[in-house]
Amino acid sequence: MKTLTVALKENGYDIYLGKGILEKFKSLCEKKSLPKRMCFVIDENVFRIHKKYLQTFLIDEKNDLVYKFPSGEKSKSLKQISELHKIMLENKLGRDTLIVAVGGGVTGDAVGFAASIFMRGIPVVHIPTTLLAAVDSSIGGKTGINFNNTKNIIGSFHQPKFVLIDTTFFSSLPEKEITCGLGEIIKNAFLTGQTFYDEANAAIPLFYQKDFSKTENLIANSINVKAEVVSNDERETGLRKILNFGHTFAHAFESELKFKIKHGEAVVAGIICALYLSHEKGFISEQQLEKFLYLPKQIPIPTSLKKLDKEKLYQVMLSDKKNRDGKIKFVLLKNIGEILLDVEAEKVKVFNSFERMFKSI
Ligand SMILES: NC(=O)c1ccc[n+]([C@@H]2O[C@H](COP(=O)([O-])OP(=O)(O)OC[C@H]3O[C@@H](n4cnc5c(N)ncnc54)[C@H](O)[C@@H]3O)[C@@H](O)[C@H]2O)c1
Repeated sequence: MKTLTVALKENGYDIYLGKGILEKFKSLCEKKSLPKRMCFVIDENVFRIHKKYLQTFLIDEKNDLVYKFPSGEKSKSLKQISELHKIMLENKLGRDTLIVAVGGGVTGDAVGFAASIFMRGIPVVHIPTTLLAAVDSSIGGKTGINFNNTKNIIGSFHQPKFVLIDTTFFSSLPEKEITCGLGEIIKNAFLTGQTFYDEANAAIPLFYQKDFSKTENLIANSINVKAEVVSNDERETGLRKILNFGHTFAHAFESELKFKIKHGEAVVAGIICALYLSHEKGFISEQQLEKFLYLPKQIPIPTSLKKLDKEKLYQVMLSDKKNRDGKIKFVLLKNIGEILLDVEAEKVKVFNSFERMFKSI
């Protein structure tokens, strides 16, 4: 088992990573003197697929409160939060209760939020079961729900007591969910350095073969990138911008495809565009471009991207709340591990980047 740390001024916590480590959950809780009363909120698909494993190592359905959380983005809603709070009240849960969120980013975000406002905040532990939740959403304490068609507009910062990542859960992930996690992993590889980048290049097929024993290092490296950025910028004041590499483009793709593309797939396409734009701007050579494109191009992304209208995409990027002064600020690349923030670009270069990405998929 690997132990990683999110070092914060207050309330720092550990992330445990390994295969079959669910059995360590209870002893970790004891070691950290966490409440003995537990409420497990488990993604309904995870419960269905891994019922036996969960019953053997995590839950005691006779004594613990187990709530099967409806899967899907629609569950990040006030309605779902009040439903959960109602059940918590009916079962007389209080500050002496530990909430354990078991599932992907949807479960983690919603349950983290529910825990953060119940009785002004009760403790939570995350057990992420998707690759994306493991490397991204379960780290950093950001919780949230959607409201009035706006994603993550209501939320809070609520750091977990610890995060336990048992790669056993990943064996049942569909290919698309693997891609979603890989989007963030390859982004982190570009942000970090040559070794991580080379490791990522070699490991992509292993993820799709679900050989997670050989990918553990890479998952740990990726977690460390997010953990480090979060440690230095807990309340998202600026440094976290680096994590937006590929995301300015990605948000436009998601919006124009009416969210019929997964976020991670949009991130991969966004990284490809960011690399083309870095080349258009003269930050990287033709030779570097070819070399760098090899990593994202190993990951399958939907060809529906090709039909998108460049002008509409551009307008979506302009209207992003981060671009209030009417200029799009890109996160671009100079080299592996050398990131440029707040870069502006001529419209024609942005259009060329879209065009080159469309042609390449
Ligand atoms: N808080 C943050 O910092 C942060 C960061 C990134 C993303 N997010 C949020 O995360 C959410 C996306 O998370 P996600 O991609 O994990 O989606 P998700 O939670 O919807 O999970 C994707 C699908 O996989 C299923 N699933 C989960 N674990 C499984 C397993 N082990 N085997 C088989 N199926 C499984 C779920 O039931 C669901 O159908 C979005 O709402 C996004 O806004 C939050």
